[in-house]
Amino acid sequence: MFRNFRLVRKWKFLQLISMCCVLSTLLVCWEEVDHHVISHVRSYSYRYLINRYDFINKSFAVSREEADSFGRFPYLINPQEICAHKDVLLLLFVKSSPENFRRRQIIRSTWGNQTYIKQELGVNVKVVYVMGVHPNPHQRAAVQKKLNDEDQIHSDLLQQNFMDTFHNLTIKLLLQFRWAHASCAHARFLMSSDDDVFVHMPNLVQSLQALSKQDVENLWIGHVHRGAPPVRLKSSKYYVSFQMYQYSSYPDYTAGAGYVVSREVAAKIYHATMTLNASLHIDDVFMGICAVTVGVSPQEHVYFAGEAKAPYHPCIYEKMITSHGHEDDVRYLWKAATTPEAKGISSGFFGNLYCKAVKMFLLCKPFFSNTYSCRAAFS
Ligand SMILES: *[C@@H]1O[C@H](CO)[C@@H](O)[C@H](O)[C@H]1NC(C)=O
Ligand SMILES: *[C@@H]1O[C@H](CO)[C@@H](O)[C@H](O)[C@H]1NC(C)=O
Ligand SMILES: *[C@@H]1O[C@H](CO)[C@@H](O)[C@H](O)[C@H]1NC(C)=O
Ligand SMILES: *[C@@H]1O[C@H](CO)[C@@H](O)[C@H](O)[C@H]1NC(C)=O
Repeated sequence: MFRNFRLVRKWKFLQLISMCCVLSTLLVCWEEVDHHVISHVRSYSYRYLINRYDFINKSFAVSREEADSFGRFPYLINPQEICAHKDVLLLLFVKSSPENFRRRQIIRSTWGNQTYIKQELGVNVKVVYVMGVHPNPHQRAAVQKKLNDEDQIHSDLLQQNFMDTFHNLTIKLLLQFRWAHASCAHARFLMSSDDDVFVHMPNLVQSLQALSKQDVENLWIGHVHRGAPPVRLKSSKYYVSFQMYQYSSYPDYTAGAGYVVSREVAAKIYHATMTLNASLHIDDVFMGICAVTVGVSPQEHVYFAGEAKAPYHPCIYEKMITSHGHEDDVRYLWKAATTPEAKGISSGFFGNLYCKAVKMFLLCKPFFSNTYSCRAAFS
């Protein structure tokens, strides 16, 4: 009886072990397994157990001539003089598209209003809208004429002659770092954001001023993606072939919706873009690839958004830096987030307690909600 029991247990144990073996073999070796969960498990395991990306140097290295050619398109609009001022705290690139006239106009009259920033915050921030040309050849000439008019008035557009499409976003990344290197290398910080992002400029400027007193040699902050696997599903717009990226996990990178690097990191990334194959079209992943070859890794900032939209509440406004997915509510948010009443709402013992409770309620929901992470409630 007793012997029998031991036998059964032993058999069960062997069964378990062999199942584990089969599973892990599947996970590690069978690259064709195209399952969402499996690719995440594999990718996280790689990120958290091994976390080495030395192979990227070799597999992405190309000659300087070839690397340069990925971003070599003629400039159509080049605001070379925009950084003529010596003392620029932040060069802020807004990734826009030629036809997004309205979005740019809203940004200029709200968080990107440079007169306001200079008068109220006392610093120089240069906002530059980055784009290619309209992808539809029939509309291109008309849109281009309107763009030239817009540039006559505002002189803040940066445009190169490539088709402005999702699959050309990495070209836009090269444009930002190469133009910054050539025409605005002295800006203390460089930021890149989308044109449907809300930036809380006063909070951003305040934290950059604090940061500029510290060592920012390797500063790269934003909403960090760790252990993200390449998407192998052909129908996805994020599809990346094995030929383009062979490994199970991307290096850490920040969401392209908004991130900040120091002048030193911007220079390192620029140099990396002059040595790497830039055919990987996902711009924020490519940025991670550039960074890993120069030994820079991103730091998480809980109030930078990935896909997230900030909840409307003064306790959030007090801390937020970026929020994603805005268009019509930007004016409202700008007004609400920058009134004097929103400032200092959490000061004092009770204010602090109140805001902590509000933020826990808004951010720490047990089900998925597309906003800042729960950790933001405690920072
Ligand atoms: C290769 O990658 C490592 C980091 O993974 C980096 O420190 C090193 O400088 C790179 N070498 C070259 C030649 O790019
Ligand atoms: C920018 O801000 C200044 C100063 O606050 C204001 O006078 C001006 O109207 C604003 N510009 C736009 C386009 O809203
Ligand atoms: C990217 O831009 C180039 C230059 O305009 C164009 O030839 C190419 O088709 C574009 N690629 C995509 C995927 O849109
Ligand atoms: C860059 O990588 C792509 C995809 O892996 C490849 O097809 C292309 O030949 C490479 N370009 C250079 C210049 O090596």
